[in-house]
Amino acid sequence: MRTRAIQITAFGGPEVLQACDIELGEPAPGEVRVRQSCVAINFVDVYHRIGQLHGDGPKPAFIPGVQANGVIEVLGEGLESSGLSVGDRVTYANIGIGSYVGHRNLPADRLVKIPEALSDEIVAASYLRGLTAHYLLKRLYKVQPGDKVLIHAAAGGVGQLMVQWAKALGAIVIGTVSNEDKAALVQRLGCDYPIVYTQENFADRVLQLTDGEGVPVVYDSVGRDTFKDSLRCTRAMGIAINYGTASGQVEPFPLQDLHSKSLSVCRPTLRTWIAKQSDLHWASNELFELLSTGRLRIDVAAQLKLEEAAQGHRLIEDRNTAGAIILKP
Ligand SMILES: NC(=O)c1ccc[n+]([C@@H]2O[C@H](COP(=O)([O-])OP(=O)(O)OC[C@H]3O[C@@H](n4cnc5c(N)ncnc54)[C@H](OP(=O)(O)O)[C@@H]3O)[C@@H](O)[C@H]2O)c1
Repeated sequence: MRTRAIQITAFGGPEVLQACDIELGEPAPGEVRVRQSCVAINFVDVYHRIGQLHGDGPKPAFIPGVQANGVIEVLGEGLESSGLSVGDRVTYANIGIGSYVGHRNLPADRLVKIPEALSDEIVAASYLRGLTAHYLLKRLYKVQPGDKVLIHAAAGGVGQLMVQWAKALGAIVIGTVSNEDKAALVQRLGCDYPIVYTQENFADRVLQLTDGEGVPVVYDSVGRDTFKDSLRCTRAMGIAINYGTASGQVEPFPLQDLHSKSLSVCRPTLRTWIAKQSDLHWASNELFELLSTGRLRIDVAAQLKLEEAAQGHRLIEDRNTAGAIILKP
């Protein structure tokens, strides 16, 4: 069959995202064909598009995208007792690139069924981001009640979920944002101390809020523009986590810089935390439970047609939107 796709034939600006039609064969044994209803735009799609990940990312030509959801149309061989059926709504994240398409064949063992209570749009907005928040807050550093935590880009897609989930775990949340509107938004989500980091030095403010001590954990998805100061406001024996590079990659620095405060640094990726199927289902179930009961919410900042992927990339890079941008094939 033919299906719609967005392809990248050269690294570059949003204009390199071009619509085309591709041929899709029958699903192989162990695979299902999914008719996709929503495709998520995640910030990693931008890194892939501009070639920021160098040897670690895809090389043109490729179809970008690491997450989508939809309905199973065809079951491949060997899936009779898989628990999956034609008509099931399913989602996936991080099964390699290639999600900016109308239909896709996918390995059945990496799919997760969507609960009835959740819309396709909310799952597209929150799934990969929510799995990320889960490992950051509950595994890499286990947030404890009363912890003061610093979350950068708190009004972004991951940021919004991080703020609410950290609050649900009992943390006191300090969040950075680039303007006053975003500050008001994160405050409504429960952020105790929003900091507009384009107007004041966030590390000075964090040290002031913690009586000079600093925070036990910094969740830094901004990277180059913030990480040095993130280390400055991490308290002794704390951990500074650089999990994203929206402003560019962190410049190399001497390991010795960590010595005086016995700091830890981590540069994690979601892929490793959901590689085991049991971890994937654990995190998915916890996320879906919080979304279904309204304890976590996320704004869908824009819904665009699949062919408008370039516009979606412009929105996420311009920093003008708060929440998630999704594409409809
Ligand atoms: N390692 C992992 O496992 C993992 C998994 C998922 C996502 N991530 C990371 O999490 C972050 C958030 O992802 P997302 O998809 O939800 O995107 P997003 O938060 O919707 O967008 C990124 C945010 O970064 C901030 N930012 C700071 N400097 C920027 C710059 N120079 N250009 C653009 N934005 C800048 C902006 O917020 P302000 O305007 O308020 O500064 C912007 O809203 C990304 O860095 C992503 O790579 C990491």
